[in-house]
Amino acid sequence: MRKLLLTVVLLTVVLFTQAQVKPATDAKMNSFIATLMAKMTLDEKLGQLNLPAAGDITTGQANSSDVARKIKEGKVGGLFNIKSVSKIRDVQKIAVEQSRLKIPLIFGMDVIHGYKTVFPIPIGLSCSWDMGLIERSARIAAQEASADGICWTFSPMVDISRDPRWGRMSEGSGEDPYLGAQVAKAMVKGYQGDDLAKENTILACVKHFALYGAIEAGREYNTVDMSRIRMYNEYFEPYKAAVEAGAGSLMTSFNEIDGIPATANRWLVNDVLRKQWGFNGFVVTDYTAIMEMSEHGLGDLATVSALALHAGIDMDMVSDGFLNTIKQSLTKGKITQAEIDLACRRILEAKYKLGLFDDPYRYCDEKRAANEIFTPQNRQEARTIAAQTMVLLKNDNQALPLKKKGTFALIGPLGNNRENMTGTWCVAADFDKCVSLLDGLKTALGNDAKILTARGTNFVMDQALDSRISIFGKPTYFDKRSQAEMVAEAVDMAKKSDVIVAALGESAEMSGESSSRSDINLPENQKELLKALLATGKPVVMVLFTGRPLSLSWENANVSAILNVWFAGTEAGDAIADVLFGKVNPSGKLTATFPQNIGQVPIYYNHKNTGRPLAEGTWFQKFKSNYLDVPNEPLYPFGYGLSYSKFEYGDLKLSANQAKGNQTVKATITLSNSGKVDGTEVVQLYIRDLVGSVTRPVKELKGFQKIALKSGESKQVSFGITPQDLKFYNSDLKYDWESGDFTIMVGGNSRDVKSAKVNWVK
Ligand code: BGC
Repeated sequence: MRKLLLTVVLLTVVLFTQAQVKPATDAKMNSFIATLMAKMTLDEKLGQLNLPAAGDITTGQANSSDVARKIKEGKVGGLFNIKSVSKIRDVQKIAVEQSRLKIPLIFGMDVIHGYKTVFPIPIGLSCSWDMGLIERSARIAAQEASADGICWTFSPMVDISRDPRWGRMSEGSGEDPYLGAQVAKAMVKGYQGDDLAKENTILACVKHFALYGAIEAGREYNTVDMSRIRMYNEYFEPYKAAVEAGAGSLMTSFNEIDGIPATANRWLVNDVLRKQWGFNGFVVTDYTAIMEMSEHGLGDLATVSALALHAGIDMDMVSDGFLNTIKQSLTKGKITQAEIDLACRRILEAKYKLGLFDDPYRYCDEKRAANEIFTPQNRQEARTIAAQTMVLLKNDNQALPLKKKGTFALIGPLGNNRENMTGTWCVAADFDKCVSLLDGLKTALGNDAKILTARGTNFVMDQALDSRISIFGKPTYFDKRSQAEMVAEAVDMAKKSDVIVAALGESAEMSGESSSRSDINLPENQKELLKALLATGKPVVMVLFTGRPLSLSWENANVSAILNVWFAGTEAGDAIADVLFGKVNPSGKLTATFPQNIGQVPIYYNHKNTGRPLAEGTWFQKFKSNYLDVPNEPLYPFGYGLSYSKFEYGDLKLSANQAKGNQTVKATITLSNSGKVDGTEVVQLYIRDLVGSVTRPVKELKGFQKIALKSGESKQVSFGITPQDLKFYNSDLKYDWESGDFTIMVGGNSRDVKSAKVNWVK
């Protein structure tokens, strides 16, 4: 017995000690890298920090390119914008056979919302409020990209934004830090899985650190100026969540913060990211961001490169600043050898974790490339996912779902256009294989109904603008006929039909990088077409394609049904048809506020109260915080989205109205589906901290659940609230909660909520 006891004690001690030391692989990795680095020259170390774009490498020419020369000389750490197993294998071969130390390259790519199988744009994905689904989309993206040679993606993009003028709202998850953080975690998990060394997982790169979504006036690459308390409370959470989920790399943003561009901002990278959040991956700049700091006014390339390295940047994307100037800065004492070593070590660690030192061709398997990309299963999954991201903005008199009979008029520049279905950032999509809305309607209707089509109008009528919104080659098919001629043709079709499906909105390239807009209305010519269609008296269903919130006040007032489909990916047309005909009941909810007009921007649900708030339900009161010419209310609030079901919320009940310390308060509501069809509702929990040492938002999202209910069914939905949900950063940037009164709110969007109060003391 004593022997047994001793064994148990000994075993416990051993296990305990093991838990205290680093895992064996770390020790192995550290010694491997130390041995390797001992052999490296300064130039070879700097080479690891260099990330050029693949540039002139085309199939079969890897060896003769300029990049190849640099690879042979050990001057390249990784490459991006190169895809396909054959090309990547060729290039990797140069690194591992012709460079002195045979260090493999890391291959990056903007795999943002799918690879060849394209999912909805990220803002669309976020509107599913379904983290499992988002993780699955990232998993499939990783599976396909890794089968094509890629082991590193520049995703997730987690920038919070409240300004729809900014085209890159399409790439993020909207305006809310809590939801953004959940999405960030799901994406990292999807890409990286539980083992980075597996051949079908890839390294995530969370971007753009930080605050890129808060650029002034929504003008691309513009200045950011923000208080620290706002950064911590309203913008940092998704980056931090991605780091905590284990994201292996991070990209800095183009904008400045406190007068210093993110790429040279030591407080941001070294203090916040590494020290406060414990990030131990590597940091890469955005495209030419080091070089651009000269334009920002921080000095010549040598100066800005040294600033970046000193700030904690490890890899230089495209600027060649680290490669060509750091040696000279080292001699001048502007940076230290230790700083160079640390950056180099972090890059090598990532390569080690990806398993590239074991097998540099780990991601170069032709068989996988042939079997795992754009498979019927992946496409089916993309269709299922896409249908979950669509948001029904309006549906008067049950205009939707449509019946499969009669004659349909499909009108608008997005009706018969495959290339614009995927939206921004699709590096591997075959655009002609995308399912257009016309394709989708045809498949869904078969011989049950007739479809007439007419273009009706162009995306925009200004040809110069049209060329700017199709610059990367996603065709807009600009029609040179006059607007009057196209509208007349469309009206003629419309008159012969029973129902009009108006496929309107933005072209894929009207949002995304470098696509800021100062006017977020539907282009005037499209509105004119819509007016003409409505004038026929036929029922009109508007299918809205967009990469950002638009201002749709007129459309909302005049069209009976609006389905916002964002850009839904390769399977868009089928997924839209699934929703239009009611095979799928829409359940998407907005993750960004839709304003009534551009003047309300920035507009977001979690704003402060001000000292002169407008009384609820009123429009204008003199000397209150409001506008003369538009109410404060948005057109569609955050969290909003309709369903073919009818959801009703009972009163909110709290398990306690007085709470103390670390207790859990349960908030319960009865949700009923009084509609005729089964459906799914996103039930949202908001909290308002009524009194604080600093001003607090009027509400903040703190939880959500997706609840499926059969027609006629009711369910009790509960949220457990703990003091963890009450925490915020105070004016000393200390994260804690304060005793006081809190309003707990539950509802189907951020505006229509049931509420109850709790007093919570420490
Ligand atoms: C974008 C990044 C992207 C990078 C590489 C930049 O212009 O801002 O989001 O990852 O290019 O393609």
